[in-house]
Amino acid sequence: MKDLVRKRVLVTGGAGFIGSHLCERLLNQGCDVVCVDNFYTGRKANIAHLIGDPYFEVIRHDVCFPLYVEVDEIYNLACPASPIHYQRDPVQTTKTSVHGAINMLGLAKRTGAKILQASTSEVYGDPAIHPQVEGYWGNVNPIGPRSCYDEGKRCAETLFFDYWRQYKLPIKVVRIFNTYGPRMHPNDGRVVSNFIVQALSGQSITIYGDGSQTRSFCFVRDMIDGLMRMMDSDDTVTGPINIGNPQEISVRDLAENVVMMCESDSELVYVPLPEDDPLQRKPDITMASQHLGWMPSVELEAGLKSTIHYFQSALRAH
Ligand SMILES: NC(=O)c1ccc[n+]([C@@H]2O[C@H](COP(=O)([O-])OP(=O)(O)OC[C@H]3O[C@@H](n4cnc5c(N)ncnc54)[C@H](O)[C@@H]3O)[C@@H](O)[C@H]2O)c1
Repeated sequence: MKDLVRKRVLVTGGAGFIGSHLCERLLNQGCDVVCVDNFYTGRKANIAHLIGDPYFEVIRHDVCFPLYVEVDEIYNLACPASPIHYQRDPVQTTKTSVHGAINMLGLAKRTGAKILQASTSEVYGDPAIHPQVEGYWGNVNPIGPRSCYDEGKRCAETLFFDYWRQYKLPIKVVRIFNTYGPRMHPNDGRVVSNFIVQALSGQSITIYGDGSQTRSFCFVRDMIDGLMRMMDSDDTVTGPINIGNPQEISVRDLAENVVMMCESDSELVYVPLPEDDPLQRKPDITMASQHLGWMPSVELEAGLKSTIHYFQSALRAH
């Protein structure tokens, strides 16, 4: 029987890095959470501590297929997020983004649920403007090795806005910028996890290019705050809205900081830049601050400390 007070929230990709933090926070706020995941990149260890909570359910399911559950809100996060993972089976990546969006939008339409799409800064491609504002249409290669992800996510955004225009579905599109924190996959090739794992295990730190390219990193706690504020915003706020931390750091400076914080003596080594790797990425978060009253609050040093601590325990456990 429907619980009259608890909001029932579906999180697709709930066993992944961001999804597991979201499930945890929603449970803490008294929601009834359904986590759907096919464990492509997600791990049971990420949600093991939630199992046993009477308001937490896990369904092993691939979002490329229809799903029938009764929910009030849907966070659609299912999709491998790191280049290594999304390029391993690019056809599946596009299917997950596109068929996954169609299936989850269909579910939202049937149940009248509000639905949030985890889009990405990758929709801007290699941006010609800096920082990136939501009105910028992007500079994306449609046929390159990253296109399965970039174009898949762009198509998902199109679907969200067509469901909104055509069926008046309450949609929320968030463009997530680089996020880091505990429960990142240790070998997903992303810069923060790569550097920390390499520094902790005394390996050389691999820097693509000369390391002068900049990135901005948002700590996962801030990201979850942004996603939940977006879901709770007025129905007129559809997005797309950038959520990310605008504080920029060069990849080389990040590597040096990580080496120092890990008290490691790893050396920095430079290798060629991969194809289509963007040189600069930084969100303009004016819209997030105006519409959601959201600003990141975790300093890079504090976020790195907590992430390093997580990887220290994870590496010890292996
Ligand atoms: N982490 C970032 O910096 C970042 C940046 C931009 C966008 N995003 C987006 O946020 C979302 C979550 O990213 P993350 O970093 O937690 O990645 P992640 O790989 O840790 O999580 C993705 C989850 O989706 C699941 N999944 C993949 N394909 C699926 C399918 N077909 N059916 C069901 N589940 C499936 C995976 O098993 C995993 O648990 C993704 O949609 C990603 O594109 C993340």
